[in-house]
Amino acid sequence: MSSGITDTARGTAVVTGAARGLGQHFAVALAEAGHDVAILDLDDASATRELIETTGRRCLTVCGDASDPQDVHSFVAAVRNGLPPTRVLVNNAGISPYASFVDTDFALWQRVSRVNLDSMYLMTHGLVEDICANGHGRIVNLTSSVVWDAQARNMTAYTMTKSAIVGFTRALAGELGTQGVTVNCIAPGIVLTPDIEDRVAESQLEIYRNRQAIPHITAPEDLISTLLYLVDERTRMVTGTTLPVNAGRVIV
Ligand SMILES: NC(=O)c1ccc[n+]([C@@H]2O[C@H](COP(=O)([O-])OP(=O)(O)OC[C@H]3O[C@@H](n4cnc5c(N)ncnc54)[C@H](O)[C@@H]3O)[C@@H](O)[C@H]2O)c1
Repeated sequence: MSSGITDTARGTAVVTGAARGLGQHFAVALAEAGHDVAILDLDDASATRELIETTGRRCLTVCGDASDPQDVHSFVAAVRNGLPPTRVLVNNAGISPYASFVDTDFALWQRVSRVNLDSMYLMTHGLVEDICANGHGRIVNLTSSVVWDAQARNMTAYTMTKSAIVGFTRALAGELGTQGVTVNCIAPGIVLTPDIEDRVAESQLEIYRNRQAIPHITAPEDLISTLLYLVDERTRMVTGTTLPVNAGRVIV
């Protein structure tokens, strides 16, 4: 830790899948907003931890699978032991392999379901009592604007999981509202993360650009204000919603 900040009033923010991409940006932004941060990622998240420690906040990183019950159990125990009470959970880890429905065998269907949905169940279930304990907890789930998009191709398994996340979010908001906890989704359009840079050709990005009201490709930084709005203690009357951040690709 590089500064003397000792105020733990903002509590811990847990972010899954924050070794890179959107999760990394979310984790650093939450640290800058005053949260200590805990990260569970399959990959080494030390680059994110270093960025967080320059803000003066503490960061716990654990290598593990957010869709594995034992890994999540151990992670939750480490968060409870090492950091202030958890107030914010960002369920960000997810995969989006491209495959036509015909080519989506049962193993792929189950893998996408496990990573995108089981992780959300396990992490939320593991931390829900902690999040409820402080009276103004915040849960933010990453879905996708693909849930409204009939032009998406080769993403049936992914779209199924991201649609389920919208329903999960609404139902959980109904259960946790009496305890001052809000549960919301962010639904990005296409965002230029390293994963998308690797997999999506410039010609395909051009198609996305042309379908948007604002003809620029979204950067990870463009989602930060939405995340900070949703986790702000003053945003206490917004729950069960899905906020699209997609440059007007689909309007809902
Ligand atoms: N980038 C986009 O265009 C876009 C659009 C809509 C929605 N999203 C959603 O935003 C989230 C982040 O996307 P991204 O583009 O930053 O992805 P990314 O692939 O760049 O990063 C995902 C991170 O999650 C980690 N991860 C994957 N599976 C995991 C598991 N089982 N347990 C723990 N960690 C795991 C990876 O190691 C990686 O660090 C995802 O849920 C994705 O579906 C992204």
